[in-house]
Amino acid sequence: MTANDIRSSYISFFQNHGHAVIPSAPLVPENDPTTLFNSAGMQPLIPYLLGQAHPLGKRLVNSQKSFRSQDIEEVGDNRHQTFFEMLGNWSLGDYFKKEQLPWVFEFFTKYLGLDPKHLFVTVFEGNDTVPKDEESIAIWKELFSSEGIDAKIGERIFTYPARKNWWSRSGEPDHMALGEPGGPDSEVFYDFGEELHLHEHSPWAQEPCHPNCDCGRFLEIGNSVFMQYKKTENGSLVELPQKNVDFGGGLERLNAAVNNIRDVFQTDSFSSIVHELEETARTEYGTDAKSTRAMRIIADHMRASVMMIADGVLPSNKTQGYVLRRLIRRALLYGRDLGVWGNWEYLGGLVAPVARMYADVYPTVQKQQDMIEDVVKDEAKRFGKSVEKGLREIEKLPAVDGKQAFILYETYGFPWELTEEIARGRGQDVNRHQFEEEFKKHQELSRTAAA
Ligand code: GLY
Repeated sequence: MTANDIRSSYISFFQNHGHAVIPSAPLVPENDPTTLFNSAGMQPLIPYLLGQAHPLGKRLVNSQKSFRSQDIEEVGDNRHQTFFEMLGNWSLGDYFKKEQLPWVFEFFTKYLGLDPKHLFVTVFEGNDTVPKDEESIAIWKELFSSEGIDAKIGERIFTYPARKNWWSRSGEPDHMALGEPGGPDSEVFYDFGEELHLHEHSPWAQEPCHPNCDCGRFLEIGNSVFMQYKKTENGSLVELPQKNVDFGGGLERLNAAVNNIRDVFQTDSFSSIVHELEETARTEYGTDAKSTRAMRIIADHMRASVMMIADGVLPSNKTQGYVLRRLIRRALLYGRDLGVWGNWEYLGGLVAPVARMYADVYPTVQKQQDMIEDVVKDEAKRFGKSVEKGLREIEKLPAVDGKQAFILYETYGFPWELTEEIARGRGQDVNRHQFEEEFKKHQELSRTAAA
């Protein structure tokens, strides 16, 4: 199955269960100044999860374009991405656990053909205010039993505290803002095989493996949030007037599980971009750890950049534009690990594969392809030239201190993160505090000059 097959199969499955299809909201939230990007399917639906009536009813389904800037540094392994599509279905005070979990299981096993033996689930273990989710445990036991699997706790069903099995936009209850909805959740993981945990170079080999282990064996493919609480003024949780379901499943990760490919960058969600990179760099994907990581970062960052520009973001020094600028600049920098350094415009060639990949589902990307290419090439060219000069300066320095990091920022547009990354690559640390002090001093000077 391709990503397009999985997306359309999911939407029709939930349509057949009475859900209205809603289009993906743009990446930049339309009515929410508190956040730069939509990072989950539920985000544009918050008023409805809190009780407002949705014009299309109580059952909704979609695939939402999402971006998580907090994951920028994580990209480079087999699964992390910044831009992704989140498949989502919602019950706005309608059905709850006993419908949701069987539907998820049926969709995964019967429609996507995932072997139930490869599926593992987690549920909330409870705390002082919210009880352990015994109902979900009982439902999962029955579902696995219908497939001849005795789902024991600690073997097939795992319980975790709020840090892992509670979902709100800001994480566990203590971090939720006033009025924020959230609730306990139940996640499904796909098992790629024990050898990923046990192989001889695995740093985890001596530790017990479990779904939330970082060894790469388990991939989270779906999360049913039972969104039934809201944070109040005194910091406690109250029950919302309605019990909601908020399901989120990363399309690219499902693509990896369905095709039993351990690396999302080798699925058709990325393969055309990676192929273009292989051609440009004349390096096969997977040749060595350094070039593989670079290809993943470039492929991820460029896919995200194209989708952002298509939704109206342009490179700048603030808000969404700064995030876009950072993505393009990071992508360009990782070109050094592929031997394409100095070819400033090649990133423009990665726009077409992204546009082709989304031609049916997000046709506005292809319609704006020329404009997007121009934006990417222009930003890459300007930064590339400046960075070349900056790198020559860095090379002359035995170590970079915070003050010099600020000069690089001011003169050559080196964001802090890039200087830090280059220094780390040389086994050195840069004093962030000193950098920030210089930054503040500079701001004060500009203010005084303007007064
Ligand atoms: N809203 C559910 C999730 O992001 O996992």
